[in-house]
Amino acid sequence: MIIALDGPAASGKGTIARRLAAHFRLPHLDTGLLYRAVGAKALAEHVNFEDVAALERLAGALDPAALDPESLKAGAIGEAASRVAALPGVRAKLLTVQQDFAHQPGGAVLDGRDIGTVIAPQAEVKIFVTATPEARAARRHAELVGRGEAVTFEQVLADIAKRDERDSGRASAPLLRADDAEILDNTHLGVEESWQAALAIVARRQGLGGAR
Ligand code: CDP
Ligand code: CDP
Repeated sequence: MIIALDGPAASGKGTIARRLAAHFRLPHLDTGLLYRAVGAKALAEHVNFEDVAALERLAGALDPAALDPESLKAGAIGEAASRVAALPGVRAKLLTVQQDFAHQPGGAVLDGRDIGTVIAPQAEVKIFVTATPEARAARRHAELVGRGEAVTFEQVLADIAKRDERDSGRASAPLLRADDAEILDNTHLGVEESWQAALAIVARRQGLGGAR
């Protein structure tokens, strides 16, 4: 069983993905970390974000086994990630590792922006996780402040709006609900309720025998 979760920043898709993976004993890949790692490397090496060839080289040299989620969660890295993620050449370098992960024997859970549309269009379960920009900004703001970042709610809301627009507006694998993805809007749901709603979607899909 492949479970694909897509959605905008801080919608809670990662939280659901981790829990689904533990529940069904499936391996999980947070695909945003791949783009974050390329963005972080570009920032660290002072690569010019207009230098497409250099960014593609960074993506090609990425070791997906050596990703450290904690060090990649900074707000500035999310912004850098969405800039490199708009480049088709960068996306192409990260395609095979994601497809191979999705198609390993026994199945997998992946979360990102283009899992149900590009990486695993044949996934048995597709969930599009979303919430209002204000709800998502409040969640991300709490996380960043918890990490010690000095940011205001307004700054986080503006960052999220910009990233949403870039991720949805790009030509290459934009953030898009797959036709056969179920929408989980958790604006008014807590983590536990959101989890129950996700579990109900999976159960419904399994009841359909994986049919789409
Ligand atoms: O956790 P959050 O939703 O804030 O971001 P993320 O999932 O870590 O993704 C960071 C950035 O990577 C996004 O803003 C997208 O631009 C990009 N991304 C993508 O283009 N495709 C994916 N499958 C996953 C992430
Ligand atoms: O992966 P993505 O960026 O979509 O979001 P996340 O990292 O799973 O969740 C962002 C934050 O929202 C976390 O601190 C969650 O605890 C919180 N949250 C949630 O995931 N779901 C809700 N219904 C409410 C809050």
